[in-house]
Amino acid sequence: MIKITVLSLFPEMFVPLHESILKRAQEAGLMEINLVNFRDYAASKHKNVDDVPYGGGAGMLLKPEPIFAAIRDLPQTCNQRRLILMSPQGQVFHQEKAKQWSAHKELVFICGHYEGFDERVRELADEEVSLGDYVLTGGELAAMVMIDAVARLIPGVLGEVVSAEEDSHSIGGLLEYPQYTRPAEFEGRKVPEVLLSGHHAQIKRWRRKESLRRTFLRRPDLISEITFGAEDYPILEE
Ligand code: ADE
Repeated sequence: MIKITVLSLFPEMFVPLHESILKRAQEAGLMEINLVNFRDYAASKHKNVDDVPYGGGAGMLLKPEPIFAAIRDLPQTCNQRRLILMSPQGQVFHQEKAKQWSAHKELVFICGHYEGFDERVRELADEEVSLGDYVLTGGELAAMVMIDAVARLIPGVLGEVVSAEEDSHSIGGLLEYPQYTRPAEFEGRKVPEVLLSGHHAQIKRWRRKESLRRTFLRRPDLISEITFGAEDYPILEE
């Protein structure tokens, strides 16, 4: 069971976490998602969560007090809690990070919206993570993507355990090989003969070769991450 808490000013945005596979995972007791609106922790009468930056400049900043208060009010369930700040200034999220997080008992995602954080909010976080090198209107969509990527790695969440282990970005840093289902021929396009052969060693070799080819052509930036095995050298020489 992994517990995921999200601090956001827009908890109603998190509808996708209550559908499909993630819905079933929660119903099955494999994960719990807890949404907290940190506006509830604003002390002022008007429930202000932001203010103008010291030193001037455009825009507003999220104040530290409501976010600190919301974090302090979370039940202290375990020492395996990871606090993650959603920010375009963070390290870019990737599959390895999803894997690491999936081993924690509790993840807390802090999402800003429109505006930056007062610098002191950063002290709360174990890490600051970005979805990618672009700026979103808020951290909510980024948190949803990351939660989805973590959830499918929790044992039992996906029907078949193998499906998470074999997909792109999980097999030694390679992209997945091409896959086909029936019919064996569709409008003149044939499924590669080897896949119909039933020859498991040849199929394995063909898949490895196609994974390598696809990665070289589409994502040459991933090549330095690949762990080559002895069986790869004859394939690479072809
Ligand atoms: N908030 C705004 N842009 C973001 C990004 N790229 N990743 C995470 N949180 C964000």
